Amino acid sequence: MKRFLIIAGFAAAGIVMVSCNKVRRSPGSAYMPDMAYSVAYETYAPAAERLKQSGAQYNGQPVPGTIARGEMAPYKYKNDSAGYVNSAGVVNPLPALDANQYLEAARLYLINCGICHGAKLDGNGPLYNGGNGPFAAAPRNLVSDPVVTGMADGTMFHSITYGKNTMGSYASQLTTSQRWMIVHYIREKQKAATGGAPKPAVDSAAKAVVDTVKKG
Ligand code: HEC
Repeated sequence: MKRFLIIAGFAAAGIVMVSCNKVRRSPGSAYMPDMAYSVAYETYAPAAERLKQSGAQYNGQPVPGTIARGEMAPYKYKNDSAGYVNSAGVVNPLPALDANQYLEAARLYLINCGICHGAKLDGNGPLYNGGNGPFAAAPRNLVSDPVVTGMADGTMFHSITYGKNTMGSYASQLTTSQRWMIVHYIREKQKAATGGAPKPAVDSAAKAVVDTVKKG
């Protein structure tokens, strides 16, 4: 028995050594290879590749100056100090918001701005949180800071479009008209804060939006 075990041990070691004797590249046969190796797809890759082969220049970006169907013409001033000054002369091209547009503006504001400027527009959103949040720079109080209440609509739009110091640009998240809608929304909130023409019916609806967003 003992001898048999020794022989079997040598035989096993021999098999192991023999099976390691050359570099094997074949992974053997796969059962259902479609499931073992999924085909990797890259969005637009084949189309971009085909265009490249045909010699066309393609980087996936719209041509500068492209205007989406139904969207308004792009803002004309550049992101420089002259543009900031000149922005004061730009008038909000949108008529005052109706109740539905007001709700939509409130929604856009809460998604994009409320995290810093606060759901009440008081400059105390959860990211800042009285200086205790992760965002160190104090966002402006949009309803009572004289810098903002005295600011022209165009300048507000300029800052939302290009950002201001630590605040980023919202040009790629919000379309031109959405940014102008938010400017209207801030004005409405300023009016309500100073006791001017509150909008009770609309405000309660906006509150429902705020509550829904808070609930997540
Ligand atoms: C990440 C935080 C953050 C978010 C998000 C944010 N802001 Fe700001 N915002 C700031 C800070 C900080 C300032 C003060 C910038 C400064 O003057 O140094 C500011 C300033 C402003 C000003 C004054 C600009 C000026 O020219 O002085 C306006 C108006 C404004 N924000 C509107 C908005 C709107 C509208 C949105 C959403 C589209 C928004 N912000 C999103 C942080 C933020």
